[in-house]
Amino acid sequence: MPDEIAGETATTLMTAAREAARRAYVPYSRFPVGAALLTDDGAIFTGCNIENASYGLTVCAERVAIFTAAAAGYRVVRAIAVSAPRATTVSPCGACRQVLNEFVPPDGDLLVLMDAADSMVRQPLAALLPRSFGPRDLASASPADDASRPAEP
Ligand code: THU
Repeated sequence: MPDEIAGETATTLMTAAREAARRAYVPYSRFPVGAALLTDDGAIFTGCNIENASYGLTVCAERVAIFTAAAAGYRVVRAIAVSAPRATTVSPCGACRQVLNEFVPPDGDLLVLMDAADSMVRQPLAALLPRSFGPRDLASASPADDASRPAEP
């Protein structure tokens, strides 16, 4: 699945990610990031990082894009491009990798594209998040029994 993303589509995604980075709200880090993802039916959603005076409430560009797509009803992400104008080959943080893992295609992997100025690095999410925990682990769990209840006081 990842290799099925055409070079032209990858370029379109990276261009959208670079444009999204221009809308980043980054008064504290001054480190803008943009992301653009591709859904299973070819729709593109973008996001930028949005910081907060309470620093820990900052949301990364990738999660803004993912949650925007999810709120529009999408449940499959085929690829995501990430661009940070002040750094090369920035890849999604650990939290964003886990959130991306929720929406991998059922029949393949999700391709991550990292901006390297005049080229891009492509890696499947599985390489960035090996032995991941995801929806399938919950779906295949054994039935809950009394042992899963908290002990009586
Ligand atoms: N950031 C992202 O938006 N995505 C990444 O992949 C790495 C980090 C943001 C969070 C924060 O606003 C700034 O970059 C510095 O950490």
